[in-house]
Amino acid sequence: MTVIAIANQKGGVGKTTTAINLATALAASLKKVLMIDLDPQGNASTGMGLYGRERKAGSYEVLLGIEKASECIIKTRIPYLSILPASPHLSGAEVELVSLPQREFKLKQALEEVEEDYDYILIDCPPSLGFLTLNALTSANYILVPLQCEFYALEGLSQLMNTVRRVQGRLNSQLSLLGIALTMYDKRNVLSEQVAEDVRTHFKELVFKNPIPRNVKISEAPSHGTPVLLYDVRSSGSLAYMKLASEVLQQTQERKYVEFAN
Ligand SMILES: Nc1ncnc2c1ncn2[C@@H]1O[C@H](COP(=O)(O)OP(=O)(O)OP(=O)(O)O)[C@@H](O)[C@H]1O
Ligand SMILES: [Mg+2]
Repeated sequence: MTVIAIANQKGGVGKTTTAINLATALAASLKKVLMIDLDPQGNASTGMGLYGRERKAGSYEVLLGIEKASECIIKTRIPYLSILPASPHLSGAEVELVSLPQREFKLKQALEEVEEDYDYILIDCPPSLGFLTLNALTSANYILVPLQCEFYALEGLSQLMNTVRRVQGRLNSQLSLLGIALTMYDKRNVLSEQVAEDVRTHFKELVFKNPIPRNVKISEAPSHGTPVLLYDVRSSGSLAYMKLASEVLQQTQERKYVEFAN
């Protein structure tokens, strides 16, 4: 089982979009996938068509040990794809976690019960580096960082990498950077191109080869409560997420093999 935290403390960079569509593309490759909505905004849940009624219990109850993960996970209408939705109480979790012992390990402990059931667990993180994101990073083998190609993107990235290093040192030595996914990429835009180049110079092969283009179908899909892969499978957005999924599959399987060989 491979756990991937999709994180960037910067808001609106495409974390949730990447979580939903990467999860869908991996499920389409017949991998058993669980997506965890760890953001109090609950966008990954609504983006999959889960609204208030179906979200009475979710990641909050699991984190705080009120419910078992297996009780709160819901099968989506996409074969092989399940979701642990965000429930309304999740907005209080940041504060409530502070006073708990082992507060960074709550998610990891709760997932032990279900980890055998999935090939991939994808965690959609909130736009902050608080305890919710720390719980995700502590549970994960990999962090995948969506990065929107714009001016301040690189500044936030160094802060994020510092956090990753701190987590590696103190909470989870297994964590590694799976890659940086360039999102909302527009090759006709000079700035977009320039930032992409800077990121590639800096992070080299850690940047996924296939950027995700800015695509109107990607932004329309959530209002229909569906991944873009179901909304319009022929769109450039769908194609890009399928290519990203094949890179993710290749890298996670390759690295496992290397670890095994060693
Ligand atoms: N490739 C894309 N093309 C067009 N629109 C996109 C693309 N990726 C994301 N969007 C849109 O940009 C907005 C932000 O994306 P998203 O919600 O995935 O970001 P986020 O990082 O999860 O945000 P937050 O930090 O608030 O959780 C959404 O309205 C989404 O539909
Ligand atoms: Mg989000």
